[in-house]
Amino acid sequence: MTIRTAVPAVAAPSVSAAAAPDEAAGLPAGGPVSPAEVPADPAAYTAAVETAARAAAAYYANGESDLDDDAYDRLARGIAVYESAHPGEVAADSPTGKVAGGAATGDVPHTAAMLSLDNAFSPEQLLSWTASLERRIGRPVEQWSVEPKLDGLAVAARYEEGRLARLITRGDGTAGEDVSHAIGTVVGLPGRLTEAVTLEVRGEVLMTREQFERANAVRTEHGGAPFANPRNGAAGTLRARDREYRVEMTFFGYGVLPLAESGPELTGKLSEAPHSELLAYVSGLGIHTARETEVPPRALTGVEAVRARIEEIAALRPVLPFGIDGIVVRADLAADRDAAGSGSRAPRWAIAYKLPAVEKVTTLLAVEWNVGRTGAIAPRAVLEPVEIDGSTVTHATLHNPADITRRDLRIGDRVMVHKAGDIIPRIEAPVVHLRTGAELPIVFPEVCPQCGSGIDSSEQRWRCVRGRDCRLVASISYAAGRDQLDIEGLGTTRVVQLVEAALVSDFADLFTLTREELLGLERMGETSTDNLLAAIGAAKDRPLSRVFCALGVRGTGRSMSRRIARHFATMELIRAADADALQRVDGIGVEKAAMVVAELAELAPLLEKLIAAGVRMDEPGATPPAAETEESAGDTGSAAGGPLAGMTVVVTGAMTGALEKLTRNQMNELIERAGGKSSSTVSKRTSLLVAGENAGSKRAKAEQLGTRTATPDEFALMVADFPGSGS
Ligand code: IVH
Repeated sequence: MTIRTAVPAVAAPSVSAAAAPDEAAGLPAGGPVSPAEVPADPAAYTAAVETAARAAAAYYANGESDLDDDAYDRLARGIAVYESAHPGEVAADSPTGKVAGGAATGDVPHTAAMLSLDNAFSPEQLLSWTASLERRIGRPVEQWSVEPKLDGLAVAARYEEGRLARLITRGDGTAGEDVSHAIGTVVGLPGRLTEAVTLEVRGEVLMTREQFERANAVRTEHGGAPFANPRNGAAGTLRARDREYRVEMTFFGYGVLPLAESGPELTGKLSEAPHSELLAYVSGLGIHTARETEVPPRALTGVEAVRARIEEIAALRPVLPFGIDGIVVRADLAADRDAAGSGSRAPRWAIAYKLPAVEKVTTLLAVEWNVGRTGAIAPRAVLEPVEIDGSTVTHATLHNPADITRRDLRIGDRVMVHKAGDIIPRIEAPVVHLRTGAELPIVFPEVCPQCGSGIDSSEQRWRCVRGRDCRLVASISYAAGRDQLDIEGLGTTRVVQLVEAALVSDFADLFTLTREELLGLERMGETSTDNLLAAIGAAKDRPLSRVFCALGVRGTGRSMSRRIARHFATMELIRAADADALQRVDGIGVEKAAMVVAELAELAPLLEKLIAAGVRMDEPGATPPAAETEESAGDTGSAAGGPLAGMTVVVTGAMTGALEKLTRNQMNELIERAGGKSSSTVSKRTSLLVAGENAGSKRAKAEQLGTRTATPDEFALMVADFPGSGS
């Protein structure tokens, strides 16, 4: 690597939040470091080392560093690059080459060193690592094991005759801190194992997304400051003693070793078995591991399979209920591991393939209040633009006002923002220790920001008292949209005209518009009027799923509307359903069921008008649920005998041939009419992928999983007998 040093040094980096010092130290040369991040001279190097040491010390003291993971990584990488160019100048307190950046301490000696991992940042670096490992052991690695790298804190759990006796942090790798007081608050670390064995399980303690949200709610209720992110939450909670409240964390075991009292048989087994078998054993003892998640560890042969599995895990990262910051690749067999050995900081038989940071700290500039088409008033954060994982984030969702209060957010706060994949960016929490005192409270609206009417704040989600009427144009335009009633020629401008002329007060009024009324509108000639009337007439015959979707029932969208319509078959049965009956529809839980019942009651006058206007109220091809029996429970109403019965089908790429004109929504409708279930993600549950032109990652994933694929033409033949297939 060429090192240019004629640029300013790693100045005091912009303030961000909690660093993970152990992750960056000891990087292999070749990590992503820009010349600007390399100290320019000895003074800048000393300053950088001091900043890193301070961040690492603060992180290990209370989980509150001024640097986020990314900022710390960059700082440590700059330091490492400088040191490799100036080996004679390495400072004693440099984080390079030390477990936990040299910051953590403890007084409980570890039975065997708790090491860190070296990192790889690209497929090329992974490849050069696997090659160097194979050179070192003088043979190909027979089997690799690939698993998620959990974003938490390493702990060792000592079990004596099956009883959890002691919990110890990693510390500096040779000795850690006793955190046994946390026993009982960590899900996945049972007090008793299923067998009375003596051994040490090592793994990561973290907060799942849900645990993090709950922890912050409890903390702010007790007048405490929220944790900036789940990792800080776990760090702060694990070390805290004597709190008046309890918050939960989760353990993921990833290693096991014998203790002095383990006995020769178990000691032999734990030293000789492949990692994959040990994980299965640990899991059988009742310890939680990644085996019980959507991204289970895999034992694989060949580097290509390893690379493909890395991609799969990375693709699932945005939807996992817990944070991962990379993927751990290791030699699975004990013989390979023994032959490779370990350095002082990290083993040579494993590496962390790092994924890009999904969290950054930025400033909350303002809160906007938007009114949706159902009248729901939702806050949205305006952020100082920040680059996360390749895109610039300027806004984040804030759910509801209670959410703001619970998290004690203030304007001007430095906030931790999370953005992974296509998921809408969200604010995790304010970084409270970075407050200056100049932050201002967030002012909640007193009247509807759209129309000035009152606000119904009786529920968590606030709503304009006028409900849908507040955004009449938006709700009628939505109902007329392509995936709902599909009324051609009824764009927003026309809807505005109709509303302003007081010809419609909801979308049912569209069906009783007269020729004269339409002709009276500006820019409405005879032809457009006749066309619009014909389009409205045609819309009366849309299937129930479309009509239901047009209602814009809160908590339901296109796919949920289809499931509801296919399950109940008629609007009458949907309206007669109570919350229990609604919960038999796939994807409807207690809360959603109650919401749908309430919404349908509110929409009763509109529904009566639609029925009176002759709008279709049944779903072709669907049969009403039989009197509820165990068997019919959970039925989604798919055509039982259709050609896709029992299949989960995903569509990707551009459709051609007979299917060319179908929107994705229409494709999904077709799949469901033919008895299948539509889905947008390829997983091992997918039975068929319809892959059109330019199909990308989904095709790759299907190939990897061995999922059956079909071209649009092949699929058109499979569903040829079903209406809407275009043939
Ligand atoms: S294996 C000898 N597997 O990442 C070290 N570590 O950056 C063996 N980590 O210290 C570690 N998930 O705290 C391993 N599935 C996993 C992991 C994992 C998270 C942590 C662990 C380690 C750190 C290294």
